[in-house]
Amino acid sequence: MEKKTILTGIRPTGGLHLGHYFGATSNWVKLQDEYNTFIEIADVQALTDNFDNPDKVRKNVRVLTIDLLSVGIDPDKATIFLQSTIPEIAELTVFYSNLVTVSRLERNPTVKTEIKQKKALFGEMGESITYGFLGYPVSQAADITAFKGDLVPVGEDQLPLIEQCREIVRKFNNIYGETLVEPVAKLSDNKRLKGLDGNEKMGKSLGNALFLGDSEEEVNKKIMAALTDTNKIRKDDPANPEVCMVYYYHKLVNKDNLETVCQECKAGKRGCVACKKELIKHMNEFLKPIREKRKYYEEHPELVDEILINGSKKAREIAKETMKDVKKAIKIDYFNEKEEI
Ligand code: TRP
Ligand code: SF4
Repeated sequence: MEKKTILTGIRPTGGLHLGHYFGATSNWVKLQDEYNTFIEIADVQALTDNFDNPDKVRKNVRVLTIDLLSVGIDPDKATIFLQSTIPEIAELTVFYSNLVTVSRLERNPTVKTEIKQKKALFGEMGESITYGFLGYPVSQAADITAFKGDLVPVGEDQLPLIEQCREIVRKFNNIYGETLVEPVAKLSDNKRLKGLDGNEKMGKSLGNALFLGDSEEEVNKKIMAALTDTNKIRKDDPANPEVCMVYYYHKLVNKDNLETVCQECKAGKRGCVACKKELIKHMNEFLKPIREKRKYYEEHPELVDEILINGSKKAREIAKETMKDVKKAIKIDYFNEKEEI
């Protein structure tokens, strides 16, 4: 049986943090064995709300690619490619945009939430939404369908975008004939990771993230400042590990000794400083192989570029095929491929 195609994307606006790792990328590493896997570095999408900061996007393309390689994405199994190198995605976006109403985009729950966040951050200025930003779900539908993605591994917050893509595909196929593959969302079992400060979400902009690229000193500093049970004042006060972020992260990287941490904390036999130091040790052990790989790629930047270039070339071939089918379906294949103009 032919392998199904998985297509997923990530915006190059910063390095990967533990939330990305446990929520998404560790899953992609598993999926690459089983599926024909495509991972898009979505630089064009990142520019929708960073159009005034191209340096940030540019810098993070390589940071992110190195992160992906360091956590175990294998370029022999998965195709990592750069969105901006595939003009067919932009082309498809134009044709799909006829199939989506403005009000439907405004009702997209993911877009709605992001607009709300912008308003909270920028006040009045947050109200001026660009055409590009409002339309990014259409562009994301082009990302997915250009590569005939069957499955899209995403978190829950992205579900409305996949639904929007499915609607576009159905409408396209209805009007122009069966052409596009309708993708299905593949929800990961992993839930969203909390931040070091106890916030429900770990996020770069929230300042509560542990990055895979953090040095030992940074890990040390961040964990020492993490939220514990605030009711615990003295070293030998009994406490509740379930409200403590240090315990929360012990659960991720210190599975062997977890029971002891929990019991000792509840019994008041464990000081928070010692508990944090133990977590730091485990976290650094967890990060060690990732750091080693990162170091290798940082020392071989030409290899990183080669991976991106080869991945993009491979991806482009597929997008070109899709584009041909789409042009034919829309009846704009005027010269029957006789000539490439
Ligand atoms: N919107 C996604 C995010 O912000 C990134 C993304 C771009 C994506 N293109 C995609 C996800 C295609 C899945 C499929 O995380
Ligand atoms: Fe958290 Fe450990 Fe302190 Fe308990 S002892 S509150 S688990 S840091």
